[in-house]
Amino acid sequence: MDRTYLIKPDLDEDYPVIDYGKGVYLYDITGKRYLDASSGAVTANIGHGVQEITEAMLNQAKKVSFVYRSQFSSKAAENLAKKIALSTPGDLNWSFFVNSGSEATETAMKIAIQYWQEKGRPRKTKILSRWVSYHGITLGALSMSGHPGRRSRFVPLLADSPVISPPYCYRCPFNKQPNTCEYECAKELDLAISRVGPESVAAFIAEPIVGAAGGAITPPKDYYKIIKEICEKHEILFIADEVMTGFGRTGTMLACEHWDIIPDIVSLGKGMGAGYAPIAATLVSERVMAPIQNGTKIIMSGHTLSANPQSSAVALAVMDYLEKQNILTEVEPKGTYLLNLLGKLKNKFSFIGDIRGKGLLIGVEFVGNPKTKQSFPRELKVTERIIKVAKDQGLLLYPAAAGLDGTSGEAIIISPPLTITIREIEELVKLFSSALNKIAEELAIQGVKIEW
Ligand SMILES: Cc1ncc(COP(=O)(O)O)c(C=O)c1O
Repeated sequence: MDRTYLIKPDLDEDYPVIDYGKGVYLYDITGKRYLDASSGAVTANIGHGVQEITEAMLNQAKKVSFVYRSQFSSKAAENLAKKIALSTPGDLNWSFFVNSGSEATETAMKIAIQYWQEKGRPRKTKILSRWVSYHGITLGALSMSGHPGRRSRFVPLLADSPVISPPYCYRCPFNKQPNTCEYECAKELDLAISRVGPESVAAFIAEPIVGAAGGAITPPKDYYKIIKEICEKHEILFIADEVMTGFGRTGTMLACEHWDIIPDIVSLGKGMGAGYAPIAATLVSERVMAPIQNGTKIIMSGHTLSANPQSSAVALAVMDYLEKQNILTEVEPKGTYLLNLLGKLKNKFSFIGDIRGKGLLIGVEFVGNPKTKQSFPRELKVTERIIKVAKDQGLLLYPAAAGLDGTSGEAIIISPPLTITIREIEELVKLFSSALNKIAEELAIQGVKIEW
């Protein structure tokens, strides 16, 4: 092949070249078909090639694609913000549109800091977060991310936001059992805030379900209630990073709804444009907007393409499509069906340590020994190999970090488009099983002993 001028994720790898997509399938230019079991990066929530979206795109493009937000508003952006306000719980009524999840979490952080400034408490500037988390790649967002692999090159430039352990029941940081643990992982926040000093803390940020940093780690029932109470006690805002979990991925508009809490600020991305256009949002509650409305009236954030009508029209069409096709109501039953089929694979492959998640956001963690939960030696690159073998066989999976240190474990995420059918779920599990078979054979040939 001729030299490339495009910087791709791995400079040595030959990537297939995409031709087109339809539903849950993608086709490369050689005609090879891939079942998109990860929705790309948990993004293509309504599948590929949906005509309603391309029509909405064209209709908006024929009128106007771009206006600058300090010169014009647009019907598309106004209607999108209204629809989001009506579809999300509580008083999360205000939207600030940006272009990526990283910008959405970074804007959330800035709004939290500004909120306290407007209330006359300018010392409250620190944002606290958890280890085993990911909030984005820009420096502010990376500062909040407890993802050692993504932080390591930039550590001297980053704030030390991650302060508490993740709610990782499979590998409980406190060696407790879920039913009798008394939520020490949540209560750790109380101690961390006291140590840092609540007078200097603006907010605590967390992903309702940990995505790429932990492989769909899903906290138990009362976890977020306790977190929210601790935040309120210390007068600290709670930011829910729903970039991966929002827009129906778990069957509700926001994943927080499963824990029955309403955050002060929310970041959205990925499924919002469903891959059809770059768009993300920071949702702000009336409570947080009030002092800004009564104060300086200007939020100090924004990008050239913020709230552009083109991307807004796409996200609006995605919301209409979710609604008209009644997609969200099917997410939990489909997720349960998929979880059950995956559960059966546990009897066949002892190196499946844990299967977890909610709706159609499912994580599978692999271990060398299911009894001791000992991970495979990292040099074996088990995750990377599973992803590669699956891709060769026509199945796309999403890699995740795992392990309490965020680097030593092996996990993947299965997150197909929410529109996947039962037959396609069965095909997905068959392909996954076949990929795991191949890896088991390869590991056996290499002399790696897998315990039962
Ligand atoms: C929870 C979460 N927050 C933020 C981001 C960053 O989003 P983006 O890659 O669109 O900048 C991601 C991306 O994976 C994410 O999963």
